[in-house]
Amino acid sequence: MAISRSTTDKVRERADIEEVVNDYVPLKKKGQNLMACCPFHNEKTPSFSVSPSKQIYKCFGCGKAGDSIQFVMDIEGVGFNEAIKQLAKKYGIEIEEEHNATPEDVEAYNEKESLYIALGFARDLFVQNLREDEGQSIGLSYFKERGFHEAIIEKFDLGYAMDSWDHLHQKAKTAGFEDDILLKAGLILQKESDQSRFYDRFRGRVIFTIHNLGGKPIAFGARKLGNDKNSPKYINSPETAVYHKSDVLYGMFQAKKSIRNEDNCFLVEGYTDVISLHLSGIENVVASSGTSLTENQIKLIKRFTDHVTVLFDGDEAGIKASLRGIDMLLEGGLNVRAVVFPQGEDPDSFSRKLGSVAFKEYLKVQAKDFIAFKIGLFADEVALDPIKRAEVIRQVVQSMSKIPDPIIRSVYVKESAKLLEMEEEIIQAELNKMLLKITKDHQFKANLQNKETVIEDFLPEKKTEASLKETQIAHEREMLRLLVSYGFEKVSEGLRVCDYLLQEMEDLHFETPVYQRILVQYKGALAKDVLPDPEYFLKQEDQEIKREVISMITSKHEMSDNWEKKFQIYTHRETDDLSKTLYAGILRLKRRVLKKMLDETIQKLKVAENKDVVELQQVYLELKNFQIAIDKQLGTVISQ
Ligand code: UTP
Ligand code: MN
Repeated sequence: MAISRSTTDKVRERADIEEVVNDYVPLKKKGQNLMACCPFHNEKTPSFSVSPSKQIYKCFGCGKAGDSIQFVMDIEGVGFNEAIKQLAKKYGIEIEEEHNATPEDVEAYNEKESLYIALGFARDLFVQNLREDEGQSIGLSYFKERGFHEAIIEKFDLGYAMDSWDHLHQKAKTAGFEDDILLKAGLILQKESDQSRFYDRFRGRVIFTIHNLGGKPIAFGARKLGNDKNSPKYINSPETAVYHKSDVLYGMFQAKKSIRNEDNCFLVEGYTDVISLHLSGIENVVASSGTSLTENQIKLIKRFTDHVTVLFDGDEAGIKASLRGIDMLLEGGLNVRAVVFPQGEDPDSFSRKLGSVAFKEYLKVQAKDFIAFKIGLFADEVALDPIKRAEVIRQVVQSMSKIPDPIIRSVYVKESAKLLEMEEEIIQAELNKMLLKITKDHQFKANLQNKETVIEDFLPEKKTEASLKETQIAHEREMLRLLVSYGFEKVSEGLRVCDYLLQEMEDLHFETPVYQRILVQYKGALAKDVLPDPEYFLKQEDQEIKREVISMITSKHEMSDNWEKKFQIYTHRETDDLSKTLYAGILRLKRRVLKKMLDETIQKLKVAENKDVVELQQVYLELKNFQIAIDKQLGTVISQ
């Protein structure tokens, strides 16, 4: 139910930031502000400040900031409405519902409330069943066998569903629940043959209760007990009005406090992994419940910590399949570490095998930062193939560029250079490029969002000397990239790309020294009938050449992007349309040179003595005609 505007306004007025924060962390006066050690990250010297005059808090360490409502949301890990409710309670403010709520809103709200009540009833029943004869002999003994003691059973609301078609349905009916609500809560199912008849969804299984952040039961996972191959291992609640699987992580209610205290969250696969870790004394653990991670689940973790340690079962295929999830965590701004268990072990089995102390030690020792983990995973393949190595560099660098802390990044550069047997400089150069690109994108987006930014910022940049030079370098680089990557493809029958390109470039000299050196090497190799492909250059002594070539072949996509934006050359179909791309590229390169010559001529004209003027004018006109011709050709090449 939507809380009325007047209620939130009242809460805003009354909830004094100093009072609210003081409930959680003791504040000390320092000048106009109040300071404390930040409750959102680990620190020894206080950088968390509260301004009573502005009614805001801000941490200069981790950057968290907001008003008193935001503070409650952050520290309790709750949403806006829940924060308002908590503060209203603290200040004795009566909660009014939104007056203009539609009847549909009211109905939806009432229905959700009914579902919570029904699910709470079911939870109580499942928990109680564990104490009945059948539950004790089947359910409880199963849990005991797995080492789940009474306290943990209680903590997780573990239970048992009787082996009966309608045990729950009958009990719920007697307690006054409507079939409709039980159906919508996912507790009962309609018979196909007779829609007026129902049966229990969970039967003869042990129950894992799934809670929301506030600890209310919202769904159940029911594990089978026998080895019956025909029935699924788990039967889970369906999506309901109160259970959106993609927003939920199993164990979050029990873990949230510990996640915040430890400033780390262990991520496992299954219900039983979560519980086993608790048994080992590790409480900051949640499970994705066997499905791939979602964006909302990552956001949920991020409300409590920036650090995730993913615990993988010891099964390589499974790990590689989960890499996307790790990338998503990185993208979500989380620092990711990973632990792999020995073949055939999962966190549950392995923690019981090692015992609590040794298991914790194992996690500590084995937790690898994500980069080391990823490189390690591909180590065998990489060792064999230099081109694959370039691809892994690109992947690793891309992941690294997502890491916010520059110090950690530089550690990764060293580490990955060592692991990949590459020069640090190469990795650093690639990383810098990637970071620059990200910064530019961010700045652009930030500018778009910031209305105060002056409009000039959006005007296309004026062509300065520097940007002309940049364009020239990019053209030269692109020519070489095409030569190195596609040199031996055929433009037409009997004509190779390299022949065509070198013929076209006969009268050109590259301005960038290293590109000129590569070009000379390239021609030299051809003359000796050697194939100057990427591998040829990777074997070179010249570090600069090596770095450039690696950079060319690893940053293909980035180049294409730039070309599209900056120079309006469309390269995405370049392999289909190779000769056209080359031709346009060459023309552009020549045009740049012409432009430069034209500019120089103009400069000369400005200071020329009378006797030279005519000649210079002729040169100018000739160059200009050349340029017009090239422009025309470019027009036809591109519009074809
Ligand atoms: P697992 O098969 O690893 O189950 O699936 P588990 O929880 O570790 O159980 P034990 O230790 O083998 O008894 C991992 C998770 O995938 C989901 C559940 O959330 C489970 O915890 N799952 C698995 C299902 O939802 N349905 C299934 O049939 C199997
Ligand atoms: Mn498992």
